[in-house]
Amino acid sequence: MPEKGVALITGASAGIGAAYAAILAARGYDLVLVARDHVRLEAASAALRGSTDVAVEVLPADLTRPADLRRVERRLLRDDISVLVNNAGIAVPGRLVDMPPDRLEAMLLLNVLASTRLARAVAPGFVARGRGDIINVGSVVGLNADRPGISAVYTASKAYLLALSEGLQNELGRAGVRVQAVLPGMTRTEIWEKANIDIDALAADRLMGAEVMVEAALRGLDLGERVTIPSLPDIADWLSFMAAREALRPNLSRSEAADRYGD
Ligand SMILES: NC(=O)c1ccc[n+]([C@@H]2O[C@H](COP(=O)([O-])OP(=O)(O)OC[C@H]3O[C@@H](n4cnc5c(N)ncnc54)[C@H](OP(=O)(O)O)[C@@H]3O)[C@@H](O)[C@H]2O)c1
Repeated sequence: MPEKGVALITGASAGIGAAYAAILAARGYDLVLVARDHVRLEAASAALRGSTDVAVEVLPADLTRPADLRRVERRLLRDDISVLVNNAGIAVPGRLVDMPPDRLEAMLLLNVLASTRLARAVAPGFVARGRGDIINVGSVVGLNADRPGISAVYTASKAYLLALSEGLQNELGRAGVRVQAVLPGMTRTEIWEKANIDIDALAADRLMGAEVMVEAALRGLDLGERVTIPSLPDIADWLSFMAAREALRPNLSRSEAADRYGD
């Protein structure tokens, strides 16, 4: 078995997932690459085999299809897996009232259900072995659900991943499992074109390269961060956000309604 074990990365054929594959290979992990497009996956794996000496498996799967999802779950049950990167995601543009229901469902099946089931599949082995990393690629939009302009359903799917990650860190952390939510800002990938947004129209100084984003995210994991926001310059801003949430906690559940709701 390889010393670092095997990292299974969903959405590994392009963008952020491809960057995770390249950087985890450089860190010595063998890889299982998951995405739908078999030809692209084979090309990505051939490039990695040519540039590194790690073993690379391809596992073509449409994670919105139950039979494919089960195949990926079965691969995660093997004890060589040491990292799961829940990265595959789509951003269906538009308002709820305009969104084709089947596209809405596909987005939630991929962004929410597949990520959760894959975590469910891998976690018992990680707990039994006392180690393992679950990396969930959310988004900064999950922190900004009140901001207009981005699909409410996409935003909610990313907020779910943040909440899931924080909860799983509580459930699994004591067993030695690390759970990290990665919240990228705008990152230069194909996701924009697929959402019919012209990437060149976005402010270049707000757009990060995928490799830069993933390098920072993995350094955040090395530092023991549960939540990593690669572009945030001052960690004190995140800590004060968390402190504000903590300050609400004692008053979030009480026997009496607040005075402002009285007669
Ligand atoms: N780019 C950004 O600005 C940005 C910002 C914040 C968060 N994110 C998040 O980062 C993650 C990766 O996004 P990206 O920008 O790298 O997107 P991307 O370039 O469009 O890549 C998406 C990857 O997911 C795979 N995929 C799509 N549908 C799939 C399905 N049904 N089953 C299995 N694999 C599927 C794609 O391959 P196939 O098409 O071959 O399946 C591809 O490998 C997403 O979760 C996204 O929400 C991105």
